[in-house]
Formats: sequence, structure tokens, C-alpha cells
Amino acid sequence: MLAEPHFTRHAGAWNMLTAAVCVALLGCLQAQELQGHVSVILLGATGDLARKYLWQGLFQLYLEEAGKGHSFRFHGTALTNTKQGQEIIAKVLESLSCPRDTAPGRCAELKAQFQQLSEYRRLKTPEDYLALSKDIEAWVQHEGLQEAGRIFYFSVPPFAYADIARSINSSCRPGPGAWLRVVLEKPFGHDHRSAQQLATELGSFFQEEEMYRVDHYLGKQVVAQILPFRDQNRKALDGLWNRHHVERVEIIMKETVDAEGRTSFYEEYGVIGDVLQNHLTEILMLVAMELPLDISSSEAVLGHKLQAFRALRGLQRGSAVVGQYQAYRGQVRRELQKPDSFHSLTPTFAGILVHIDNLRWEGVPFILMSGKALDERVGYVRILFKDQAYCAQSEKRWVPAQSHCLPQQIIFYIGHGELGGPAVLVSRNLFRPSLPSASWKEVEGQPGLRLFGRPLSDYYAYSPVREQDAYSILISHIFHRRKDSFIAMENLLASWVFWTPLLDSLAHEVPRLYPGGAENGHLLDFEFSGSHVSFSQPPLEQLVPGPDSAPMPSDFQVLGAKYRDSPLISAWPEELIARLAGDIEAAAVRAVRRFGEFHLALSGGSSPVALFQQLAMGHYGFPWAHTHLWLVDERCVPLWDPESNFQGLQAHLLQHVRVPYYNIHPMPVHRRQRLCAEEDQGAQAYAEEISTLVTNSSFDLVLLGMGTDGHTASLFPQSPVGLDGEQLVVLTTSPSSPRRRMSLSLPVINRARQVAVLVMGRMKREIALLVSRVGREPRKWPISGVRPDSGQLVWYMDYDAFLG
Ligand code: BG6
Repeated sequence: MLAEPHFTRHAGAWNMLTAAVCVALLGCLQAQELQGHVSVILLGATGDLARKYLWQGLFQLYLEEAGKGHSFRFHGTALTNTKQGQEIIAKVLESLSCPRDTAPGRCAELKAQFQQLSEYRRLKTPEDYLALSKDIEAWVQHEGLQEAGRIFYFSVPPFAYADIARSINSSCRPGPGAWLRVVLEKPFGHDHRSAQQLATELGSFFQEEEMYRVDHYLGKQVVAQILPFRDQNRKALDGLWNRHHVERVEIIMKETVDAEGRTSFYEEYGVIGDVLQNHLTEILMLVAMELPLDISSSEAVLGHKLQAFRALRGLQRGSAVVGQYQAYRGQVRRELQKPDSFHSLTPTFAGILVHIDNLRWEGVPFILMSGKALDERVGYVRILFKDQAYCAQSEKRWVPAQSHCLPQQIIFYIGHGELGGPAVLVSRNLFRPSLPSASWKEVEGQPGLRLFGRPLSDYYAYSPVREQDAYSILISHIFHRRKDSFIAMENLLASWVFWTPLLDSLAHEVPRLYPGGAENGHLLDFEFSGSHVSFSQPPLEQLVPGPDSAPMPSDFQVLGAKYRDSPLISAWPEELIARLAGDIEAAAVRAVRRFGEFHLALSGGSSPVALFQQLAMGHYGFPWAHTHLWLVDERCVPLWDPESNFQGLQAHLLQHVRVPYYNIHPMPVHRRQRLCAEEDQGAQAYAEEISTLVTNSSFDLVLLGMGTDGHTASLFPQSPVGLDGEQLVVLTTSPSSPRRRMSLSLPVINRARQVAVLVMGRMKREIALLVSRVGREPRKWPISGVRPDSGQLVWYMDYDAFLG
């Protein structure tokens, strides 16, 4: 039976109930001994998450805290009408279980108490919130208690957050002296902008310290053990936890279930928003962050996390492979009533290559992978160490605990999989780890079980003494105000800053279809090199017929034609980039042979990234030692800012090739600690540098792009400067942020021996068509003013831009 919701009107019944509970509560605590009354309000109490985990978590909290001084009431709320809601909750409460070590009699007793302390009520209008608040106050007063605080657990879709938050803030805050905690479930936005919006909105109702943003992976026992493990094994790990010793890190969450029944959610978030942006990113931070001296200080942990976020190298389209299980499209059509012609581009699988540009991790690949409809359910973090040994003895004489020729790895096994539960594994040839013996025990041997290529006996393996569900742990942390297990706003926004550009660049990417389960075979295996990741196998043709049996890229030769009276090279992106990189190398070799040096001016933005990577990886004959690199344009941000074009060049090219530093010429946008101030004469200084070093100010090759508005370099339509005249370098204004720019002028571009314009992607289709038809009108379309005086112009367009 559920308790009545309105205490004041049923004071008699409540007195009896209090007496019953009081008796049950270990010797009937006197009201004055109580530390205060806690109300837990579970919003969305009849929903999936609540039924599966949250009620059990609240019961667990009650089991742990009953008799320790606080009194409790649990208010399950939803929009469901009272009768139906009560029925659902009654069933859920009936199914609650105690930990294995609780005696059955004791369990039944505590469960009965918990049931009596729980109620269901419909909570919809602001008046309902006010009534709830009044009922809590009346109850507290009637029982002679002090109110300690209120926990509101939002297990509702995010669109409902703002209204609920407003109602709580206006009508349901506890009185002075009592605390308020609101618990929020992901998703927190679907990109940086929406997350920021949500944060601002919620910030107008609650203080940051009142908000507990849940990432339930932080409640998983093994995930929660990563920092303590690093801390307790500092001595062994200090020398190992770095780029000199770590070969790579894998952060994996594989699922066998698919998204059926959740496609409306999934269509909005995909696997990246659902799992990678939160669960896997949090784990990445725990592994990668510098270890604070005091890991129990949430401020220190947050500070170090944010530092690690700042060191993440920006993700590009080439940093990811994405897939979609074959049945997904049909499920979406059915569940969202879409026509048969509807195609979803939502990834249900993603493999991402992350790099961290700091001294500790530079060059170490971090692989993040998650997917639905895969062959097994398992989650783990695997840190594989470099094999730098040669073993002189034959393999049969290797002793697992001593041989340096066997793999050396640390695995935080989050759960499921072959092992069937959480564990921490350390190769015996690494070191014997220390884990808190009260809560971790050695795993018993399981003959025949092999993990990551080695028998279980090759590892020191520990599992929790008592396995606990993540939500129970987090609910207990909320009660004990342990904020380190929750996502701070800055953390959340930093994560979205990292993921949003990738999501944008994947918006039009067609994911690879996969059949699902064991049949996936090697279809989703992927490989990485430099910053680039790609599937190892070509797609299955019968699965991926292409848009109406369109020919595959390999069926095409690079197409030669004319565009605006200049040569046009058109191809699929990969071939186009390969061709352009080859042409640049040829130009470089020619120039160095003739003049001893090669002056190359490069644009920023996303299109050239693949080119930079291609040049960095595949062109070992490139005369880098004699190449001068110049910038075509720059944003007025510090050079270390991720938005700086120089940063892109640095990350994707300079890091990987040996250009003498005195041959690198970033644009001086940041002088005297100011950005592009006219009086600092940065543009003039760059012009002088060009005049001094580049013969006749004539670059050997200038690489340009074309914007959807017809801009090129940072010369935008209607620009008052840079389209003609004497100036080589100008300060301009962009219509989009960051607005201030520095750019080469059209006259200096047109003095180049060669100009290459790279145009890629469907979004460029319209402008490409338009510009093909117009004359020389640089004021309207600056790109149309590109006509080298005596050099050669070549257009490089991919089929998407050229053919649409
Ligand atoms: C949730 C995702 O956050 O995590 C689900 O929304 C996913 O798509 C789930 O299935 C996995 O959690 P667990 O605890 O089952 O590994």
C-alpha cells in the first residue's frame, strides 16, 4: 500500500505511521536526536530509468542511512494520473531487493518501512509544487522535525527541465537553513550552443553547487577506481604513465542492444551524443589528466580535467569512422512515421582517434569506440604499453611475471564481456598493484579464460568485494554531497567544445551500414595513422549500394576540364587531395631545384586539413628543409587558440615534418599583447617580411579556398580593402566570428607563380555554380578576382562541389 500524499489532511493516519516507522527505526529515535528530515522527490518516477535503477538506488540509500539520524520521505512524481501512478510505483516497490548479505527478515522489515515512506503524486502545475512544499513543511512541523534538505531527481526529458526548474525555484525551495539539491540526467544539450543555453537557463534557477549532473559511468565501480588506482600506485606508474611508455589507450563501450524504441532520442543524439561526449570522454579525462596531489578535492580534480580538455587536439572529419546498423533506418521510419524514402545519417557506431597535445601524451593514440548492435556487450579501458624489449630466450621459457616480451597492459574492465563483471587487471610483468583490500579482492582463476590475448592467470586481477549498481552509488554521493562524482558545468561545456566541430563535420557523412551482431565480421575494424582513421575493409557492396548504384570512387579517374577558363581537376575527395598534394610536391621540387627554396602560402579552415595530413604522411620526398611556409590569412586570435589557422597548420602538418623554424612565417596578429590593432602595424610587418624574403613578392604557390559567399583568403564580399591597390597584407572584417582577420591581398595573390583553389563538399555546390558563370567582380565575389598576372591558376574541386 502506498502512503497518502497529503499529510495535513490525514494527520491521524500519519501519526500511526510515524509510530510504526519509529518503532522500526532501531530503538525509536527521539525527534530531537534527528539530524533533520530529507525529502527526496523523484520526477519521472514511473519512467524507465526510475523503474530500472532509481527506486532501487533510493531504497539502497534508505538501507544505508536508516537509523543514522536522518528521517526520510520519498515522493515519486510524474504526469501520470494518481491512481495509475500509484499502481506502477506499488509494483516497483514490491520488486525492490536487498544486498545479498542482508538477512531476509531484516530485508522485509526495511522494505516495508521504505514502502510506507514512499508515495506517488501527480506533479504538473506550479500549484502542485506549492502544495508539495506545504505538505513537506506541514509534515516536518507536525512531527517536530527540522528540515535538512530536499533532493529533486530529474528523470524526465530535457525539454521539461526549464519548467520544472522554474516551479521548484518559485514554489518548492526548502526554507532557510535547509539545502536544495537537484539531480539532472543527461543529455545536457546536443551541441555546445544548446548545452550553454540549457546551462544558462538552469543557472537562473539554481546555484551551481545545488546542481548534480549525472553521468552514471562515474558511478561504475571500476571507473570510480581509476583516479584512486593512479594515486595509490603512483610509485609504479610515475615513470610509465606517459608517451614514452604507453603505446595506446582504448576506451570502449560495446553494446549488443540496438536503438529500437528509442529512435526519437537517438535521431537527435546518435552514438556520439549518447555515449562518447559523456561516458567515454569522462573516462578519457580520468586516464589522461594530471593527477592532483589530493584526489579527494573536487576543485583540484576539476581544474586538472579542464587542463586536459584544453590539451585535446581538435577533431576533424578524418578523426572518426561512423557506422549505422542496417535495421536502424527501418526502425526510424516505423517509430517516427517517416516515408520509405527517408534516410537517416545518424551514426549508431563510432570509432574516434583522439590525440592530446601535451608533454605527457603527445603522439599517443587514444581510441574511443562505441556502438549498438555489436557482437558483445562489454566496456573497458585498456592501456597498452610499448614493447621495447627483445627476449633472447625462446618463447617456451618465458615466465609471465618476468618476461618483457609478453604484452604489458592495465585494463579497467568496466563490466560484462567474458569476465562478466567489473575488474582491474594488471599484467604480471608490469607490477603488483595496490588496491584497497576492504573493497577489492583478487579474482579467482577461471581456467581457459583469455582476455586481450593472454590467459587470466597472466594478470593480477581484482574485483569489487561487493558489486554495486552505479545509480545506488551516485544517489549515496548526492546525499553525502560528494560532488566529485558529478559533471561540473565547465566540464560539460569543455566536452561539448571538443565534440561539436566533429558533429558538425559529420552532419552530411553517410555512415557505413553494418548488419549487426556477429555478422559484422571485420566490417567495423578501423586503422589509424597520424591523425587520420579509416575503416580497414572496403564496404560490403550489397550493403552499401551507394546513392542509386552510383559508381564507387575507384571507378573514376581524376577528371580534367576547365572552370572559369582555367584547368579544373575534379575527383572524389581522397583522390583530389592526393592529386593536389602530388602537384604541390612537384612544384616544391621544381622550385628548390631552380631557386634553392620554395615559398608556399597556405589557407586555414577545414578543407586543407586532409591535404596537410596527406603531405605530412605520404610525401617523404618533399623538400621541407628548403620550404618557407606562409599564411594566406589568419583570425585575430592568439596563435595558440584552436581557432587560429596557424594552430591547424601546426597540428596537422608542422608537427609531423621538419621545416626549419625560421622558415615558418605565422601572421603577426598578436603583437604587444593586442590582437590586430592597426597601430601595431602587423599587416605592414608581414608585408615587409614577404618583400624581404620572397623574390618580387611572388609566392611559388598560394593555396586558396572558396567560401559559400564567394570569399577567398579573408577577403569577404564588399571588403573595402585588399581587392586592389598596393597593399600586400590587409586587416579585414569577416561576417562571422572571429570577425577581425588579417589576409593577403588579391594583388599579392595574383603575383604568385601558381594558385591552387581547393573547393570541397556539397555546401559549395551553389557558389561553385554561380562563380562559374560570373565575370571578374571581386567586390561581390572576391574569389572571382583571382587571376594570376602571369602565373597559373588551377581549380581542385571534389565531385560534391562540382557535380552536386
Ligand atoms: C546510457 C545510454 O547513458 O548508457 C544508453 O543512453 C546505453 O544508450 C547506456 O545503453 C549503457 O549503460 P550501461 O550502464 O548499461 O553500460
